[in-house]
Amino acid sequence: MTLPVKGLVFVQDFIIRLKSSLPVALGSGLSARRYFWVGLFLSTALLVQQSIGWRWTLLTGLQDDDTYKLATGFGLLAFVLYQWRFSVKRAQGEQRKAATMMGRHKLFGTLLPLFFFFHSQTLGYGYQEIFSLTLLLAFLTGLLNFQIVQIHKPWYRPVWISAHVGLSMMLLLLMVYHVYLDYAFK
Ligand code: HEM
Ligand code: HEM
Repeated sequence: MTLPVKGLVFVQDFIIRLKSSLPVALGSGLSARRYFWVGLFLSTALLVQQSIGWRWTLLTGLQDDDTYKLATGFGLLAFVLYQWRFSVKRAQGEQRKAATMMGRHKLFGTLLPLFFFFHSQTLGYGYQEIFSLTLLLAFLTGLLNFQIVQIHKPWYRPVWISAHVGLSMMLLLLMVYHVYLDYAFK
């Protein structure tokens, strides 16, 4: 086999392997504990960054640009809507799909502090701070789900899901307000 053909076969083989391993990685590939540790690491890193006031100069430059803010804002919007899609699918009775989506819900949810950081390096002031904290609390309740916090009491799961879904609803309302304030008056 000539060298370019060999190279092509290698690339094809790689794509086939990637295609078959991606659903596993995005699905239930990671254990509940791994999500927890990754999420804990990212949220602690964000907390430390906020407390010491460290800024990534390159990102600060990008964040001064309105188009960048808009693009990453829409990224966050898509992210939150995707997290909600899981709930919608379940309500529609798509149990099989909902199981795959649960894995992705946890995977994307765990990466949330990173998405946030690329949109804003501060929690903001006033309502923006409440908004950012709501996002982080929705994230933290998600992280401390019943697979991690093993409280075997009948009240625990209803209290947990009410807190997680309640914060997620508040997030949607604050997001509408954020977009409205930023655009309606400009
Ligand atoms: C969960 C979702 C979101 C969170 C937690 C969030 C949070 C924030 C925060 C804390 C700031 C202040 C940044 C600073 O002071 O440097 C900010 C600014 C901004 N956001 Fe968002 N945002 C979200 C979604 C969105 C969406 C959906 C859009 C628009 C499509 C958007 C557009 C903007 C713009 C244009 C700014 C700059 C103007 C300003 O500081 O008010 N954001 N965001
Ligand atoms: C801002 C981010 C998040 C949002 C907006 C969000 C939203 C939601 C919503 C609306 C539900 C309800 C689904 C339903 O039963 O109808 C849900 C369930 C759930 N979420 Fe999240 N979530 C987020 C982050 C996370 C994270 C980071 C994790 C864990 C790593 C997580 C774990 C779970 C689990 C395990 C359930 C299923 C509860 C059950 O089986 O009854 N979530 N989430």
